[in-house]
Amino acid sequence: MQRPVVGHWRKILLLVYSLPLFSYATLADHMNVLLIAPPYVTLGSTATLLCNHTVADELLHKIEFMKDEKRIFQYIKERNPPYILPHHTDGAKLEYSKNGTTIKLHNVRFEASGYYSCEVTMTLPIYTAGAEPVHMKVISPQSTDPSIKFKKRVYVIGESLEANCTSSPAHPVPYITWFINGKEVNPDLVTHYPHKRHKNHLSSTTARLKVEVSALHTGDNGHLEISCWSTIPALLTHHEQFADIKKKVVLVQIIPSPDVTSSAAILVRELTLPAMLCILSAMHKFIP
Ligand SMILES: *[C@@H]1O[C@H](CO)[C@@H](O)[C@H](O)[C@H]1NC(C)=O
Ligand SMILES: *[C@@H]1O[C@H](CO)[C@@H](O)[C@H](O)[C@H]1NC(C)=O
Ligand SMILES: *[C@@H]1O[C@H](CO)[C@@H](O)[C@H](O)[C@H]1NC(C)=O
Repeated sequence: MQRPVVGHWRKILLLVYSLPLFSYATLADHMNVLLIAPPYVTLGSTATLLCNHTVADELLHKIEFMKDEKRIFQYIKERNPPYILPHHTDGAKLEYSKNGTTIKLHNVRFEASGYYSCEVTMTLPIYTAGAEPVHMKVISPQSTDPSIKFKKRVYVIGESLEANCTSSPAHPVPYITWFINGKEVNPDLVTHYPHKRHKNHLSSTTARLKVEVSALHTGDNGHLEISCWSTIPALLTHHEQFADIKKKVVLVQIIPSPDVTSSAAILVRELTLPAMLCILSAMHKFIP
């Protein structure tokens, strides 16, 4: 009769001794907290923020969401009700999931932009881990493609081509990149003008391209293709996508230089042999 009881107590003691060791050594060390949030969200839409963590449900004590280091939501499992919301959340209406892992920011305004983070606390051992903050930006995308304006549409080789590309109003202000025949142009040829402010925190931008037209620019059909991209953000780091991108492409006609020797050279190259013989025989008639 004694044996099973001793065995039973030994098991419990073993559990009591080993549990804290096991917990400190592994549970806390392997606690991962990651905030999954969109880097860009469109004005008036909904952003979903998920505090993804590895704490088992029976060990979970608390989940908190922060914006710019200010608490915007708190969930404490043992409390009734478990949720605490501040009176007001910057630039959005907050909705939370029952289990406290997800919040939704509805009808976001520009003030909702900022650094978001979350923290998870477990009970055994008492331990808190925070997620790396995620910068979320509320944007108002461009409503139309950018426009390209020229001084003129036909150029002779050697002339200076000048064009302006202007974005439509947006927030934040878009960035303009110029391309010639699909290749990004040297930034030295581009002048960025000061931004133009519009209502509702929107701004537009203009960038000028100034380049000397060379024979290298001209494609087979005597045209040069120039295009302008207007993007938010300006540049991409690693493999993210543009939050907003609008493009405009135009063809510019290039005519050969009016210079006498070179146009004569082009003329000769373009004549076929029978045509040359024809001209020679015609000339022969006049030259006895
Ligand atoms: C949450 O994290 C786990 C592993 O830590 C991963 O398997 C899962 O895909 C993540 N959830 C989301 C929505 O990314
Ligand atoms: C918590 O709730 C969200 C939304 O209802 C759900 O997607 C998620 O799977 C839940 N997570 C856990 C750990 O129960
Ligand atoms: C481009 O914009 C600048 C600044 O607004 C202006 O001075 C210039 O004349 C414009 N050029 C063209 C080709 O429209």
